[in-house]
Amino acid sequence: MRQPIRFRALAVACLGVVLGGIAVAQQPPSPPAPRAAAATVDQRVSALLARMTPAEKVGQLVQAGAFPGMDPAGAIRRGAGSVLWLNDPKQFNALQKVAVEETRLKIPVLFALDVIHGYQTIFPVPLAMAASWDPSEYEQAQAVAAREARAAGLHWTFGPMLDIARDARWGRMVEGAGEDPYLGAAMAVAQVRGFQGPSLGTPGRLIATAKHFAGYGAADGGRDYDPVYLPENLLRNVYLPPFQAAAKAGVGSFMSAYMDLNEVPATANRFLLHDVLRGEWGFQGFVVSDAFGVANLITQGAAKDGPEAARRAVNAGLDVDMASNTYGQHLAAEVQAGRVSMATLDAAVRPMLAAKIRLGLFEHPYVDEAAMAGVLADPAHRARARRAAQRTLVLLRNEQQALPLRKDVASIAVIGPVADSKADTEGSWMVFGHQPAAVTVLEGIKAKVGAATTVIYASGPEIRRDIPSMFDQFTGAPRKPPQTREESDAAFAEAVAAAKGADVAIMVLGESANMSGEAASRASLDLPGRQEELLEAVTALGKPVVLVLINGRPLTIPWAAEHVPAILEAWQPGSEGGHAIADALFGDVNPGGKLPVTFPRKAAHAPLYYARVMTHQPEGTPRYSPRYWDGAEAPLFPFGYGLSYTTFAYGNLKVGAPSMAVGAKTTVSVEVTNTGRVAGDEVAQLYIRQRTGTDTRPRRELKGFSRVTLAPGESRTLTFTLGPEELRYWSTVARKVIQEPALFDVWVGGDSNASAHGEFEVTAAATGRGAARPEAK
Ligand code: NOJ
Repeated sequence: MRQPIRFRALAVACLGVVLGGIAVAQQPPSPPAPRAAAATVDQRVSALLARMTPAEKVGQLVQAGAFPGMDPAGAIRRGAGSVLWLNDPKQFNALQKVAVEETRLKIPVLFALDVIHGYQTIFPVPLAMAASWDPSEYEQAQAVAAREARAAGLHWTFGPMLDIARDARWGRMVEGAGEDPYLGAAMAVAQVRGFQGPSLGTPGRLIATAKHFAGYGAADGGRDYDPVYLPENLLRNVYLPPFQAAAKAGVGSFMSAYMDLNEVPATANRFLLHDVLRGEWGFQGFVVSDAFGVANLITQGAAKDGPEAARRAVNAGLDVDMASNTYGQHLAAEVQAGRVSMATLDAAVRPMLAAKIRLGLFEHPYVDEAAMAGVLADPAHRARARRAAQRTLVLLRNEQQALPLRKDVASIAVIGPVADSKADTEGSWMVFGHQPAAVTVLEGIKAKVGAATTVIYASGPEIRRDIPSMFDQFTGAPRKPPQTREESDAAFAEAVAAAKGADVAIMVLGESANMSGEAASRASLDLPGRQEELLEAVTALGKPVVLVLINGRPLTIPWAAEHVPAILEAWQPGSEGGHAIADALFGDVNPGGKLPVTFPRKAAHAPLYYARVMTHQPEGTPRYSPRYWDGAEAPLFPFGYGLSYTTFAYGNLKVGAPSMAVGAKTTVSVEVTNTGRVAGDEVAQLYIRQRTGTDTRPRRELKGFSRVTLAPGESRTLTFTLGPEELRYWSTVARKVIQEPALFDVWVGGDSNASAHGEFEVTAAATGRGAARPEAK
């Protein structure tokens, strides 16, 4: 069972907790929340608002941290409307009792936590889930996470993280869906639906948060928190689409990002929070800052003091102040002084009250402590996690069908620092206790092979961050002194000896969990420590070698990509990761995931992504000259790439309407055939290129995908639709969204180098004569 959080601290911007036990009698069970009709919600909000003092209104915008030295119970007595960073139902009920019995208006509080890829049952990290290219799988995973978290008394999760990331040095790439806006938007919608259900207030679901709004993934140099400079076309065409999709899907809240966007902190960025989010997208929910973000406006040089920080943030459209209590200290006075209008304050409070009403909290404020254990122990959740992990696996290399392995092999050496690490198998964001911990790769392999197979394990030399992570304090493992050279050499020799004595070596290499995530950027993307050296030494033995990667970002493995016959990208696969990986290694599952990010050859090539615009010497043309003279910059593995134990062929690509007017739609169909001898999954991906435009357009853009399972010899015709949604873009020249007449290429295939090709023309809309008029959206 998940353990109540006890002494945990989150330093920095976000972490830390201590709550002394607050004794409280067990509360009566709460039946599922009824859904309130929209009109009733508005009326109830208005009625409540009319009774509230300015201070009570401000209280609803204060999110109390449960960090060291903080006193959430006191904060609630003073009116705080929500609390973050607790996960113990007893504490929730104790604190809720304070809210509904000790405060004047008895408004219940919301409890919020980062339930990012699972609560008790841990699913693969978000980057891995994106590699499944299966939004429905992702929706169901987040539905399980929501069910568990809600049963534990949480109401609100700080996910999904929707930041597009094109620079693998940025540690938080692991929390998102990778480099592409179309895939990112599909995964955003899936997660919103999974977390929230069909609408806010669905029983057993949470309020979701689209974060970090916006542009955070484009941090200068991939350095977390560093400023972001994005021209409006890049912002709107690449970084905003997942957020817009989440808003359209009804996400309940947004979280502003930490960094400056074009030298305006996102926390007080009226363009983002007001003009785009509310004005253009009609967002009706509430916006929360990132932890301490409002106070950080002073650090960032955007406010001289707390009153100015509070004023700037709320006037920009930032509703809830996470943890800094700047609103609690200063906002009422700013309203009193007329520097913040009552209308602004009311507009900020309304969606918070509406959410509490929709969740049924006024009727049923308490969580049923007795029911939680049953929900968390549901075996269907583990089964779902195993299936999800299976679907995230990406086969990067498989020379001479090195995989799958036979189950009756006499001896296997399982080698590597992450081969038997539960924490590294679970991945980032595991700062709260939960049990049971993940099945490691070593455990999964042992469970898979027969009793006649000997499995030898050697970790090899340790890997560790040069500079410790602020999250290490939550994992419970004390930071050990680094291995001495002698210890490292001995571990190295032991690993090579283990491989020497076995028929097959399975090298499980990559990154420890704390090497990606928040404040976990890297300047190098190589295998950390001596892993590459060990891989080369083991490969030199001449035995069959399989490389399993456990990591939260692309790694630069050009040597392995040339010399190691089989490479399976397994990411950080969660609770059932070891089983899922063993399923694939031994052929019970055929890997079918595809990369949601480009794998560069060198970290210095970052940012590297497939959707580059055409240049005067574009890739693939005769006059193309390499961009660097010290090595090819072509990706090691392109976006969308992934092999299978079978093979697929594409043919018969047909465009329904080779010529159509602006605003019309056409279909593109293609036949995919499993040309191998086993069943397998293929992710068919559709890319377009607008050949000419008012602005130059990317050489390829993903505009459709479909993951299908095909039996050997089976063919399936897949049909995609292309219309204004897919063909328009925000133009720097026109300063608005346009769809324009042009010739388009379309490709469908198994990765971003897809070769089945067609073309179509978009002509000027109906009246048709004279100059083409861009259609404004
Ligand atoms: C900081 C992180 O940037 C954000 O993603 C998270 O939700 C908050 N801390 C709360 O933990």
